[in-house]
Amino acid sequence: MGRFVDALAGTRQAVPPIWFMRQAGRYQQSYQAKRRKYRFEQLCREPHLAAAVALDAVQEFDFDAAILFSDLLFPLNALGFPLKYDDSGPKLGRRLDEAGLGRLRDLDRAGDALAFQAEAVALTRYALAPSTGLIGFVGGPWTLFVYAMEGTHTGALVRPKVSMGLYRKFARILVPLLARAIREQLEAGADVVMIFDTAAGELSPAAFQQHIAPDLRRLAATQPGRLGYYARGIQAAHLGGPTSAGIGPWAGLGVDWRWDLTDVLAARGRTGFVQGNFDPALLHLTGTALRRAIDEYLAPIVALPAAARRGWVCGLGHGVLPGTPEASVRDFVRVVRRRLS
Ligand code: CP3
Repeated sequence: MGRFVDALAGTRQAVPPIWFMRQAGRYQQSYQAKRRKYRFEQLCREPHLAAAVALDAVQEFDFDAAILFSDLLFPLNALGFPLKYDDSGPKLGRRLDEAGLGRLRDLDRAGDALAFQAEAVALTRYALAPSTGLIGFVGGPWTLFVYAMEGTHTGALVRPKVSMGLYRKFARILVPLLARAIREQLEAGADVVMIFDTAAGELSPAAFQQHIAPDLRRLAATQPGRLGYYARGIQAAHLGGPTSAGIGPWAGLGVDWRWDLTDVLAARGRTGFVQGNFDPALLHLTGTALRRAIDEYLAPIVALPAAARRGWVCGLGHGVLPGTPEASVRDFVRVVRRRLS
């Protein structure tokens, strides 16, 4: 059908599909032009604008999949947290505490407030070539809890880490909302929905297993084989092994640039897709230096037997960084396809 859905199906492929997290965004001139006319929230909330931004990235760089253009903090806004974006990033107008739990919007109202995301998925699907994949996404429950408490996912995260009782209560409200958003994105035409759990790598493997993994398993079980999981900074120990099998029936796993991709691809018992993991900082290289870095990255992967490369979704070990030269993104796509075909 197309490289991306073939990779999800585990079909053998010489040339892997290519998709980048944050492939639509500030490094792009076309995005900057749209941002001069619209605020970030408008680009996300108006489905035809969100679809146009997602499509621009695919058309300009020839990616094999589009991703819903949105942000992972909207579920918090749907639950009643004021949310604004300025040049330094998201600003949440309230912090979660025990007393605030009772003031959160109920599932029906919060779910309705997220309808714009599924609409954006549907419009994006409608405009995409049938052979191009489409990815939906939501934030992971721990990452959203961290944002709700701290307004950011960076720092020592002391308050969320010592508030696991509050996490439990919050997750009871949040997880059903995420499950509804996931279902609606899939019904609107997403081939797979990724859970981005950026802050989960701040937890020890034991805390991850104890507090987070049960919610992840619960989410994965709502759509077996249709969800992918990515958390920056986790190790195999978080997952209970080098594949996603230890934390539920996932369709696959994204891995950051610190993993040896050949270990993950060749892991015994792996069935799902593996997305990653070129270091996004290296996309600031250009020309021959970039080509050399890509060749070095690909060499051990190409040396794997073809069967071990099944399910590989070639991409970055996190998202495209602002300031990345567009030519480097274009070159990455071209060089990978040329080397592997
Ligand atoms: O192309 C794509 O990958 C889809 C779009 C996408 C965005 N955010 C758009 C965005 C995705 C998948 C996200 C996920 C997201 N959002 C994460 C998880 C991935 C990660 O980077 O860890 C997180 C933590 C957020 C929260 C968030 N949103 C932050 C911290 C920021 C500010 C910093 C930054 O990188 O811009 C945003 C804003 C944001 N989300 C922008 C975009 C294009 C920039 C908005 C602008 O100024 O135009």
